[in-house]
Amino acid sequence: MNGYGRGFSTLTEERTAESLLIVGAIPDWLRGTLIRNGPGHFELGEGRVTHWFDGLAMLRKFSFADGDVTYSNHFLRTETYKARKQGNLGPGEFATAPATGFLAKLKSIVVPETTDNANVTIGRVGGHMVALTEVPRVVAFNPATLETHGEVSFDDDLTGHVMTAHVHHDDERNETVGLLTKFGKPSTYTIYRLPDGSLRREEVASLKVSRPAYIHSIGLTDRYVILVEAPFTVNPLSFLKLGNDGFIEHFTWDGTADTRFIIVDRERGRAVATPQTAAFFAFHHVNAFERDDSIVLDLVAYPNPDIIDGLYLDRLERGEFKGLVGELRRYTLPTDDTGQVECEPLSEIAMELPTISPTVRRQPHRYVYGQGSVIEGDGFSNYLVKADVASGSAAIWTAQETFCGEPIFVPRPDATAEDDGVVLSVILDTAGEQSFLLVLDGETFVELARAPLPHVLPFDFHGEFFDCVW
Ligand SMILES: [Fe+2]
Repeated sequence: MNGYGRGFSTLTEERTAESLLIVGAIPDWLRGTLIRNGPGHFELGEGRVTHWFDGLAMLRKFSFADGDVTYSNHFLRTETYKARKQGNLGPGEFATAPATGFLAKLKSIVVPETTDNANVTIGRVGGHMVALTEVPRVVAFNPATLETHGEVSFDDDLTGHVMTAHVHHDDERNETVGLLTKFGKPSTYTIYRLPDGSLRREEVASLKVSRPAYIHSIGLTDRYVILVEAPFTVNPLSFLKLGNDGFIEHFTWDGTADTRFIIVDRERGRAVATPQTAAFFAFHHVNAFERDDSIVLDLVAYPNPDIIDGLYLDRLERGEFKGLVGELRRYTLPTDDTGQVECEPLSEIAMELPTISPTVRRQPHRYVYGQGSVIEGDGFSNYLVKADVASGSAAIWTAQETFCGEPIFVPRPDATAEDDGVVLSVILDTAGEQSFLLVLDGETFVELARAPLPHVLPFDFHGEFFDCVW
């Protein structure tokens, strides 16, 4: 593969609590643990999975205390992990086609068989630390050792074939909010809440839909849940067709249709507005908040879902990938069906994997962090960006022959300024043949420290910083 190809290559090695050499200085106040999740192993028998999203889940952990950092990485021991070790795919994946016949496929619709390869995000469910993917199979692990505890069983009757890996924790209501999609005739979007410490999900609202959309994340304000329903949809009968398509290949894009915002009142449990706008696709919401009678919703938008096709491993290998070049965009939405949708770009710098300070969730925010790609040349996530949505300006961190992961902002304790803290990211250094943890100053976006890892880490997706030192 070309330069960034090392980030899509298998790592078999697992390390435990290794002290890292630090170049520069990590602030003494930084105490806690960054846990990240993403694919780490792509082989399948004599071949490999076809898509980046289908690599085996590997956890990465960075523990910070007294200016030092230790590092661990560990694969989730799941049914999928065991199947892959025996050369089998395991239950259905995002894009890699299951090697099963029609009858097995039919059975899997009647009795859904979904993957437990939870390789997308980290969260907390019912007092467990868990790894999540886009189906309702949640895998608990020990944050100290990264050892797998096993699948968490929900104590409720809610069902769905797909569940967003991105969920919102509302620390005022002490609950997590997420979305289940169930395919059928009709299909159903079920927004749920999960009280802290509980395994019983409760229905917030249930919405029928004839052609459900692929929805990767949702928006949350104090009063509302917002679904962004792009015209990238599926006729669920398609899953019954002969042939061996992966899950996402059943979805089709209709660029002549609109993207619809479904605004659900969390207390009343129903949609209060469904404004529409010209078609766009998005994986990631940034933040949402209420302003007067409107909702302000920031996300990273694309003109279509071609980015999914670009992330097949063979296309990456051929250097056809043209970058994570989403547009940071603000939609202002009405909360009833009499108002209009307004849209404005917030930054000229393309980005993906957007994050904000955890202190401004569901409130007006000024700074958005992300990683992005210069399309020319070796264009895969070769810079980090801090976008100031108030001024429209942006700061960039970049270095020769490096490729950047999702930036996570950690606020300094007792900080008053939104950007008083540090930004943590894992960087692939192809020239140095290793990855390193990067620590940037949150305000200046200047490098404070880097800590080289003992190996090249495959690119990951998402992480969370926790105040506990595990
Ligand atoms: Fe994501």
